[in-house]
Amino acid sequence: MLLTDFRSPNLESAQNELLESLSREGYCFVESGGSSEVLHILLSELSKFFQSASAEEKNQLQTYRSGFLRGYFPPLDPEGGKLERRKERFVFGGENNLFPGRYPHLKQAFNQLYLRHVRPIADTVYGSLQAYLESVNPDWAKRFQQFFLNPYSGEFEPSVLTYAMHYPAVRNAEKFLNQDHTVTISDPHVDMTTFTILPRGTGGATKMFDKSGKIIPIYDTSLSHDAMLIFVGKTLENLLEGIPYRNRNGTFPFRAFRHTVMNTPEEVAKHRDVIGYFFNGNLYRRYSRVRNAEEFGSIFIDRRPSAMQRAEPLRGMELTVRDRQYLTEQLFYSDVSPNAAMPPITLKQFKNVN
Ligand SMILES: [Fe+2]
Repeated sequence: MLLTDFRSPNLESAQNELLESLSREGYCFVESGGSSEVLHILLSELSKFFQSASAEEKNQLQTYRSGFLRGYFPPLDPEGGKLERRKERFVFGGENNLFPGRYPHLKQAFNQLYLRHVRPIADTVYGSLQAYLESVNPDWAKRFQQFFLNPYSGEFEPSVLTYAMHYPAVRNAEKFLNQDHTVTISDPHVDMTTFTILPRGTGGATKMFDKSGKIIPIYDTSLSHDAMLIFVGKTLENLLEGIPYRNRNGTFPFRAFRHTVMNTPEEVAKHRDVIGYFFNGNLYRRYSRVRNAEEFGSIFIDRRPSAMQRAEPLRGMELTVRDRQYLTEQLFYSDVSPNAAMPPITLKQFKNVN
């Protein structure tokens, strides 16, 4: 569907189509005209940075070493047996972004893609959900909206983290072969987001599979180059637990989209770049269900080393969106990765700089 469909007089039917697809399938595609040109410039610049920036330049951008969730993140495990752990990342957020120097088009392309294409798509997702909840139960609509409001300013301020991900070329791809001659890039999982927006990456043959093994044609030639994939994450599933989407075609609960990413050995032998936008609630909010205000922060796992867990206990129910962002970034505290921050970043430090 097209982003321009979300205007009157088509607004209502576009919202219906979007919500039916997100609840029924867990994902949908929205086309934003002209986005592919900007995306191409952005991915080319990022790829140049990852492949040609000097170690010193990358080093200067490793602000995670002081607890800042921006800039260059080296691989968790550069020689790892899992390709997912070999990826390099550049992390952006809604504001206070860092941009590597010497890539003049990067900042402009990044801002343009986000402001003209990705954020308007995200806004249509919020708007559609909000309008639907409003029509079934205004209290639910209010509670849903609250998760995205800054409790201090009252402003609508969802958080977003953007990961530019670079998968370095694999030299011995045959060692990673599955029985069916594919190579797994990431194992089956769901995202912890409210929803994720994932534009097309480089590397034409990459495929995404849903839980039944059906191929999601994200990089299929039949799909417009301006289309972006949107899918439901675990947080939205839990926020809307017990509130399915209902229309004349049936009743569909919102479920996090379980996905696996695989590729061919020929494609993983090349460098690959992709950018993902991970949307979440307001940083200061805790997790609670829209239907009954029951807290569900305990679904998120604390993987910190036990000494850190003892030093700064974090009870699941009390988790805020920002606490969870801290818990997700293993390089802040990992005691196994050679690239982890040393000494590890404490939650207190993290909160001071983010
Ligand atoms: Fe994912």
